Amino acid sequence: MHRRPRRNRKSQAIRNMIEETRLSVKDFIFPLFLVDGVNQKIEVSSMPGIYRLSLDLMLKEIEECMNLGICAFDIFPAYPDARKDKYATESYNPETFYLKAIHSIKSTFPEAVVMTDVAMDPYSSDGHDGLVQDGKILNDETLEILGKMSLAQAQAGADILGPSDMMDGRVGYIRSVLDEHGYTDVSIMSYTAKYASAFYGPFRDALDSAPKMGDKKTYQMDPANYYEALIEADLDTEEGADFLMVKPALAYLDVIRLLKDNSNLPIAAYNVSGEYAMIKASAERGWIDGERAMLESLLSIKRAGANVILSYFAKEFGLLEKK
Ligand code: PBG
Repeated sequence: MHRRPRRNRKSQAIRNMIEETRLSVKDFIFPLFLVDGVNQKIEVSSMPGIYRLSLDLMLKEIEECMNLGICAFDIFPAYPDARKDKYATESYNPETFYLKAIHSIKSTFPEAVVMTDVAMDPYSSDGHDGLVQDGKILNDETLEILGKMSLAQAQAGADILGPSDMMDGRVGYIRSVLDEHGYTDVSIMSYTAKYASAFYGPFRDALDSAPKMGDKKTYQMDPANYYEALIEADLDTEEGADFLMVKPALAYLDVIRLLKDNSNLPIAAYNVSGEYAMIKASAERGWIDGERAMLESLLSIKRAGANVILSYFAKEFGLLEKK
């Protein structure tokens, strides 16, 4: 035997030398859940270690993360039912706590990257990402609402908008609205291949945003489909997206690789709530080593081709790296 791959595994120093993929805190965007009020810190029961925070505590959290080197945050709002309606009107009310918080985060930490979520579900009494009429999700009528929401978020100071709604044509529509109003510098990270997944459950608990009726299969992609992600990627690219995202991440590593190999845009992957919860729950029972499982999953997402990882593990990873 002249070839023995084990020679390159014989010590930690050699293993370090030939490591093909390395995670860094700079790879991450940390999703955070915002609630109205002061001094609010409510743990999401299906996501141990993850809280809904009021702005005052969120600013502290962001500061701690920035000290760990994490500098990008995706902020999601949790609204009470009383503020929801059919048209998600609250989403572009300039006085709403979400938009005021975005403004305050950006003014407190100008160097942070603040990403916002564009979709109707946190504000919709129907719990859908689009406008519901007679049991159907209307596409083009939804675009107008997304346009208003996007403009309001850009005005509040968002650096990156994340349309997570999966309506057709929304990237182009949002790009036009932003450009017409002079927000040519605001980026769009499109949820390009967002699948109708069971792994969003804990997130919907966090925001109380589960659909009141039906499911999201007429707009989110079928988990059976791979090549269809290329159709979405082509459209988002033509429409002016700055990043393409695949979501969830772990069950869709093949799709991450597909987009990476077929696009020159940076690829993001969303390591979603259910993926976080699975690891946390089994680690709590002592069935797996939570820390190693976390690192292995994050590494796999990067190895598959993701340039950016949205993950609830971001801070835990940062703390570990600091040690
Ligand atoms: C909805 C949205 C969802 C997530 C991000 N934006 C849930 C959904 O589509 O129902 C899920 C994120 C996660 O599970 O961590 N616009």
